[in-house]
Order: sequence, then structure tokens, then C-alpha cells
Amino acid sequence: MTDDLFSPLELRGTEIPNRVMVSPMCQYSCEDRDGLATEWHRTHLGARATGRAGVVMTEATAVEPRGRISPEDLGIWSGEHADALAPITEFIRSQGSVPAIQLAHAGRKASTRRPWEGRGPLQPDEGGWNVVAPSAIPYPGHESPVEVAALSREEIARLVETFADAAGYALDAGFEIAEIHAAHGYLLHEFLSPVANDRDDEYGGSFENRIRFPLEVTAAVRDIWPDDRPLFVRLSGTDWLPDRESWTVEQSARLADRLADAGVDLIDVSSGGIHPDQQLPPSGPNYQVPLAEHVREHTSEDVGIGAVGGITTPEGADALIRNDRADLAIVGREFLRDPQFPLRAARELDALDRIDVPPQYERAF
Ligand code: FNR
Repeated sequence: MTDDLFSPLELRGTEIPNRVMVSPMCQYSCEDRDGLATEWHRTHLGARATGRAGVVMTEATAVEPRGRISPEDLGIWSGEHADALAPITEFIRSQGSVPAIQLAHAGRKASTRRPWEGRGPLQPDEGGWNVVAPSAIPYPGHESPVEVAALSREEIARLVETFADAAGYALDAGFEIAEIHAAHGYLLHEFLSPVANDRDDEYGGSFENRIRFPLEVTAAVRDIWPDDRPLFVRLSGTDWLPDRESWTVEQSARLADRLADAGVDLIDVSSGGIHPDQQLPPSGPNYQVPLAEHVREHTSEDVGIGAVGGITTPEGADALIRNDRADLAIVGREFLRDPQFPLRAARELDALDRIDVPPQYERAF
């Protein structure tokens, strides 16, 4: 039988009840700039679970304070962070959804204002901090006041441990799926792309060298993450910079194979973010899906594929799964418009008998 949007997906020991995942989306809502989850996170993520997303993923959750995009980002660098997230994962589970966390480090794109306070790099008197990257190449537009330092080999080794420690805290918090953020111009992507990486040691230059740090992080997280729980990696399928040496979809497919060998269960294929000159396609329906398809077609290993970008309709999401273009339909902005997207989809696609409608909402569905 052909799978559709309401078919469960089994990954390791986890059964995801349907194929809709809430895409990681920064909420910039930690009130005391301490990375601790707040009532906002609880309500926001909880509402997507009562809306019956198969997977509810947190925003980019920083593995250390200097890896935050903004001071208001969520963090996972201590037991206190795990304790603040635990009631959220418990509620998500109680609704039959699978709680997931995106483990992130913003690299050279850290230390910025939250969008509604003007984006851009923070001044030191606003709490800005110096950032780290594979090379001392600032993100264009962020040249000052932030200083970018190239990571030493010792610091790279420490960061691998930092990711593993964060995975341990995430486990304590009750997450079932961990996703490593290696997209959107943040630290791991900065190692992958020659646009941000001009190192001349074993972490830069050749493809093998550029993928080394992301693979080391993956191995360290896989080591901590239990065998029966899935691990995802989000990649930028391409840098969208055809005019220069950059990260391409062919390299993404090669890396996906290596990640699968390292025990990754699903590649979440996004794109862009490494440089403002990127030539993004118009953000229409399924605008990144061809990248996910390329990775699927050129990856020999049996690894799952998540498609994201411009998935806004029940029919569109369902078609992605039915046509075997992806295993998960990852939905971002439409979930901000409608936390009940999966319930609405079941209603519109005449599949209410295949989704667990909350009894509190039965009169509406
Ligand atoms: C995002 N996106 C994003 N991606 C990611 O990997 N980690 C993150 O924390 C965020 N944060 C974030 C915040 C907000 C407000 C938006 C709108 C987006 C990107 C997001 O996950 C998704 O990939 C894109 O929005 C494209 O999907 P949609 O929105 O077209 O479904």
C-alpha cells in the first residue's frame, strides 16, 4: 500500500504517528537571556502537539552560550536547561506526538538582535559577544563590532564534546529525536562550505576535510543518543552560489551517504544561509523539494529524507509522501498560521479516522 500523510513512520524504536513535522523555528523568547524554556515555548510547542503534528521539533537550541543566534535563543548546556524543557517533552508525548530537539551552534552568525529588534550584530553594550568559526571570515554585514576567531584544533575537539554533552542533556529532558543543525550558514555548515572555510589543516580544503567536523559531531552525538532513538541532520542542500566555489547538492548527496553510515536516520534537506549573495529561488510551493529529491536519488544508503520549504497545503503535503518524494513533510510558517495543520489536513483529506483527534476538539472535527 502506498504511504500517505497519515501513515506512521517507524524509525529505530520510535513510531511517528503521521508524516507532518514542525520545522525548527526560533522563537527568541527566553526572557532572561539564559537559554531556559519559558511559558512561551511550552504553549507554542504544546499547541502543535494538540494540533497533532507527528513530530514537534524545538527551535535551534544552542549547545553553548556563544552558539546562540540571539541572546533570547533556547539553550541546552546544563541540567537546568533540561529541567526547563522536561515538562514540554512530557506534554508533547502525552498528546501522542514525538518530541524532537534541534542541536545548534550559530558560529559566525551568532550574537545578533532578534528580528523584531532590528536583526544585525549586537553592540557590546547590548550584550554582544565575540564569535567563532572555521576561519576568521566574518559573515558579510557582520564585520563589526563582532570579532570572528578561527577555532583551534583543541577548540574543535572541545566543541565535539559540547555537542555530545548537549545531547546528554536533551536525553535527560525527554527528547526522542535529536537533529543536528548543519544548515543555514551556522557553524557546521560553515565548515562544509568553502565560502566560510579556508582552513589549511585537516578541517579545510578537500571535501573529506570540510566534512570532518560535522562527521565528528555526528559520531559523538550518535554515541550518546540511544540506539533505539532516531537522529536527524539538517543540511543546506546548496549554498545557491553558482558563481563561486561553494557547497552544492552533489556534495550534499555524498555527505548524506556518509551520515547514513554514521547512524543518521533522516536527512532534513533545506538550503542557503551561508552568504547574502545567494541566488535563492522564489519561495513558492515546494521550493526546496528538488534538492531533497536529488539527495534521495543519489544516496545509496537506506536513509530517510525530509522535505521542507513552501509546504502549506494538505494536498501538497500528502502528495509529497504519496509520490515518495520524501518520508516527512516538514512544515514551518504554515504551522505559525495554523497550529492545527495536521487536524485540518485530516479533515480536508477525509482522513479523520486515521488521526487521533483530541476529544476536547471533537465537535470541531
Ligand atoms: C525558521 N527556520 C529555522 N530553521 C532551522 O533549521 N532552525 C531554526 O531555528 C529556524 N528558525 C526559524 C524561525 C522562523 C520564524 C522561521 C519562519 C523559519 C527555517 C524553517 O525551519 C523552514 O526551514 C523555513 O521556514 C522553510 O519552510 P516553510 O516556512 O516554507 O514551511
